[in-house]
Amino acid sequence: MSNSNVEKCPNENIPEYAFIGRSNVGKSSLINMLTDRKSLAKTSGRPGKTQLINHFKINENWFLVDLPGYGYARVSKKDKKTFQKYITNYFEQRAQLVCSFVLVDIRHEPQKIDMEFMQWLGENGIPFCIIFTKADKLKPAIIETNVNAYLKTMTEGMWEEAPQYFVTSSSKKIGREALLQFVDQVNTDFFARQS
Ligand code: GTP
Ligand code: MG
Repeated sequence: MSNSNVEKCPNENIPEYAFIGRSNVGKSSLINMLTDRKSLAKTSGRPGKTQLINHFKINENWFLVDLPGYGYARVSKKDKKTFQKYITNYFEQRAQLVCSFVLVDIRHEPQKIDMEFMQWLGENGIPFCIIFTKADKLKPAIIETNVNAYLKTMTEGMWEEAPQYFVTSSSKKIGREALLQFVDQVNTDFFARQS
C-alpha cells in the first residue's frame, strides 16, 4: 500500500520497520535485498525516487516501510514542507512502528541532517538503529574506521550510548542475515507483549 497520509496506512496491529535517510542512500535497494526481490521497492540512481509511504507486508506478520529520502535539494520549498509534515506525522502517530532504520552512507562523515533527525527521533522516544549502506564501496579496514568515527561523534554529542548498528551492502548482500535476525527477535518480543 502506498500513500501520503498516515491515517490511511494499513491499520493492522503487526510490527513495522521504517527505512529513512537521505535521498539516494539506498533505502529502497536495501528493502529489495532483504526481501530477495529485484524491484519490489522502486530504486533509481537519481535522488528523489521514492515519494510516498510504502508498506510491504512480509510473511503476513510484519511490515517494511519504504519512505522518501530527506535532504533532496531539488524539491521546492513547498514540497519540502509537505514532505516534512507527512513524514513527521508518520513517525509520531504510527503506534506499531517498533524500529526505525536510519540509513547512512558508510563513505561519508556524519551529516548534520542525519544527526538532527536522530536527535528528533530520540526526543520523541522513537527507537532506531543505524544502518550503514554501500559497504561494498570500501575496504574492510576503512569500514571499521568510519563506523567507529561515526559512533564516536554520536557519543561525544548528545548520546550517552551509541545506537545498535548494522553494516550492509545491497549489491553484495552484506548484513542481510544480521538484520533479519534482529527483526525476528523484535517481532517475537512484540507478539509476546500482545499475548
Ligand atoms: P530515494 O528513494 O530517492 O530517497 O533513494 P533511496 O534511498 O531509496 O536509494 P535507492 O535504493 O534508490 O538507491 C540509490 C542508488 O544507490 C542506486 O543507484 C542504487 O543502485 C545505489 N545503491 C543502493 N544500495 C547500494 C549498495 O549497497 N551498493 C552500491 N554500490 N550501490 C548501492
Ligand atoms: Mg527510495
